[in-house]
Parts: sequence; C-alpha cells; structure tokens
Amino acid sequence: MTLTPWWRDAVVYEVYVRSFADSDGNGEGDLQGIRSRLGYLRDLGVDALWLTPFYTSPLADGGYDVADYRDVDPRFGTLRDFDALVADVHAHGLRLIVDIVPNHSSDRHPWFREALAAPPGSPARSRYIFRPGKPGERPGEERPPNDWPSAFGGPAWTRTDDGEWYLHLYAREQPDFNWRNPEVRSEFEEILRFWLDRGVDGFRIDVAAGLFKDASFRDLGGQDRRASDGPIYSRPEVHDVYRRWRRILDEYDGDRMAIGEVWTDGPEDLALYLRPDELHQVFQFDLQLASWSATQFRDVATAAMKAVAPTGAAPTWVLSSHDSIRHVTRYERPESVPGIGYARAKAALLMLLALPGSAYLYQGEELGLPEVLDLPDEARQDPIWERTNRRLAGRDGCRVPLPWAGTAEPYGFSPDGVRPWLPMPRDWASRTAEAQASDPSSMLAFYREALALRRRMANDLPDDLEWLDSPETAVFFRRGPLTCALNCGENPVRLPPGTPLLTSTPLYGDLLPGNTGCLLESGPTAA
Ligand code: BGC
Repeated sequence: MTLTPWWRDAVVYEVYVRSFADSDGNGEGDLQGIRSRLGYLRDLGVDALWLTPFYTSPLADGGYDVADYRDVDPRFGTLRDFDALVADVHAHGLRLIVDIVPNHSSDRHPWFREALAAPPGSPARSRYIFRPGKPGERPGEERPPNDWPSAFGGPAWTRTDDGEWYLHLYAREQPDFNWRNPEVRSEFEEILRFWLDRGVDGFRIDVAAGLFKDASFRDLGGQDRRASDGPIYSRPEVHDVYRRWRRILDEYDGDRMAIGEVWTDGPEDLALYLRPDELHQVFQFDLQLASWSATQFRDVATAAMKAVAPTGAAPTWVLSSHDSIRHVTRYERPESVPGIGYARAKAALLMLLALPGSAYLYQGEELGLPEVLDLPDEARQDPIWERTNRRLAGRDGCRVPLPWAGTAEPYGFSPDGVRPWLPMPRDWASRTAEAQASDPSSMLAFYREALALRRRMANDLPDDLEWLDSPETAVFFRRGPLTCALNCGENPVRLPPGTPLLTSTPLYGDLLPGNTGCLLESGPTAA
C-alpha cells in the first residue's frame, strides 16, 4: 500500500502572522502568539499551518518585502521562537508551511542598498533589474523603460538618483530580483535549506510565476499583465528553478512540499508547474473568483480538476485569503440580504471540504468574520491604498486581527489596554473564538464538525468525483460514500439520496433549503 503524502488532501490553515495573536503587547501578532493557540488549531481539526512572512521586514507590504530571509523580524519574535514553534507544531500533530518570497526583496535588503550605492552596470546592480529610461515627450523628460504597471497601481519602475530605473512589479519598496543572475539562484537555494534544516514541512512560493521576465522587456501594449504569453509572467525559464528546488526538497526526509502562487490564464500553463519534477501543488483560485452560482461552481470545479488531472497532482481549493475580500462579505453581494453571506459561507464550506484535493482556509473564516469595510483612512496600511491614490481600499479589511475573547478591542488578540495595529470592530463580541466555542450553533462549532467529518471519511473517499443530476440552482456530487449537495438558489430543492450527516441550516424533511449545503452518507440507490 502506498501512503498518500500528507499534503494531497490536507486542510491547511493560513495564519496571517501579524493579525493572529499578539503575545508581547506590541499590537501585532507574533510567533509566541501562534504557539499559544496551537491547541485551538488542533481542536479545529486542520492538518497544517501556512505562515505568511515573518522575516525581517519594514512591512511596506505586510512582510512580503523581506530585508533578511534568514531571520525573524523582532516584532514577530526570534529564531529561537521559530524553532520552538516548529517543535510545538509537530508535537500537536500539525505540519508547517512557510512563505518564501523570491520575486522581490525589500528595498532595505543589503543587496539592494549595495545596488543603489554602486554604479550602473556593476555586479551589485545585476542582482536586480535596472534599466535606462526612455526619452519623454518634451526635451529633458524621461519615461520608464517600458509600459509595465505595478500590480498595486502606478508604473512598475522607479527612477533612482543617478537616472537608472529599477523594476518592481509590486510596491516601489519591493525591487524585483534578476533571476538570470546565478548568485540569486544560489542564494535562494541556501535560503530553502536554511528553513528546511529548521524543520519546515513546506513552502508557499509567492509570485511563483514572476521570477523571469521576457529578456526583451517589450511593452505590454494593452495585453493583460498576467497573460501567459505576455512578457511578465510564466516565462519558460522559471521551470528550471523549480526543478532545482524540487531536488532540494527531495533530499530531505518527511514529504517536504512546495505550493506555488501561480496566476495564469490557462490550465495548460498551470499544469507545467506540476510536472513530476517540479512543484507539488499550485493554488487554484477558481472557487474564490466564482460568484454564488451553482453553474459557476460546477464549471470552475470541473475545469480546475481537469487542469491538474494530467499531472497526477491533487487540486487545491480556496475561498478566502489575506489578498481577497472575505467570502462572508463577497457572498452578500449583490443581494445584501442581512445574514445571507454568513449562511452561504457555511454552505460553501461543505462543498470545499467534500471536493477532492486539499483545502486552504484563511484565519478567521472559522469565526465567520466579515470583511471590515469601514476602517478609517488613516489606519489603512496596504500599499494599494496610496498607490491607487486612495481609489482602491486594498486588503486591510481582511487582515483585521482575530477576536479571541472578551467584549471589546483588543478582544484577547493583544493584552488588555493595547491597541492592535488595525482597529477592530465594536460589534465583534459575539464573534470571538471564546464566545463561539461554547455555542453549538456557531460557525466555529460548524467548522469543527465539518473538519472532523472530513477526517473521519478521508480514507474512504476516491480521488475523483461524479456529478449527479440536480435542479439548475443546485450542485450535487458524489465521492464514494459521501454525497455533497449545495443549493445556491432561494427555493428548497429535493435532496439527493443518502442519509444527511451535516447540514448548514436545518432541512425540511427531504428538502434542502435555499443557500444551504448538506453532506450525506451516500445510499446504495445513489450509485
Ligand atoms: C501575496 C501578496 C503580496 C504580493 C507581493 C502576493 O501574491 O500574497 O500579499 O502583496 O504577492 O509579494
């Protein structure tokens, strides 16, 4: 019997470190805070944690701007805390995935400081992407080297004091590395080993498709920034990097893995990253991008499974992350019926957990947290806010610290009397983990029950699924002994055959109410 590697059907919980739990009272979450909550995560029933970057960073982009890849930012703790965390995570029977950010560093990284101090054409500059500008319309005026936009708004180039421009696909504080320079490659291979030696079980690779840019640096000329045949992402050279990384991961025991954050515009392109000698998984954002619609859910799930099928890799599913509007709020639109997003989020969880492959949860979704839409302007920290001249609010609304206990800010996130780095809503008393833990009708209780059910059935579920006939507003599918029914409409529909095991709102006899999900033990008649 071959054992299934742990990540193939794992439920991974994304910890946004800055907002998870603050042990030292500086208003920001930290590694010790995570350690103190491992019992909560084990009891929730997840298999692994993914930590967003906790490395030394000025936090121009919440830590995705790394100044030292081999150390912990003092705000988040120390390397010793990290080692203690790894040991405790494992002692709780959980795995640990850390984020690695290879596309760009912080502008405070010693290499970039060195590059700025060195002349154009120097080896120090060749670790990043420096280019001369282009003549502008008027004499003496200069334009950036090409028309590439930053993902956060504005141009992807910033001019330095000596006139050269450097590339940053994200904020100007995040200069892109030049992956054609062998020094960059070997540096990252050493960084991988550094964290593997400390016991991590895997990596989430940030901007995994972005490392190589088309050597011509041609203009986009109206093409989509992310297009696979465009000049910015998914250049073929990137695959060689992941082949080398895979060999490193394979040198270590214990099923170490890597999952790439790969945004592509086609399934064929996605599959390339999953060749047997490359990455183990890629994020598939299809469910996250779909609206509340049975047809859309069925279509995107079919396409997502089809995309990975030829590779033998398992699909991955996500409803929320630190980069997107929380799905409780997303599912409220466009109807705006009070409570509808919450009901739909509960129902969607059952689909997420019933699909084959692994599920990535985002901290706070188990508490049913909504997006915080009314953060004061002066509190906003996401670079998107300023880079779009305050046109787009950015991602702070899904990064508000977690409410653990109590009836007012900081709700047990920080020690009493401390102001968390983002203000927390006044009406979160009933949403705290403490309040929900003792309420059997809470979202937290529901998540625990659903995760326990998935775990109980995991060994009996085949890798594929069979779509069952359903009314137009519903999705029904079966995986061996498990049937999932999701009714995205407003009116009740008849349940498929089977014995209900868990439902997101009470059933009416054999009717599944609108905006409800149900898992059933498949009866023989459903075959
Ligand atoms: C991360 C973002 C980050 C960006 C730049 C992403 O894909 O998930 O949070 O801002 O990469 O590093």
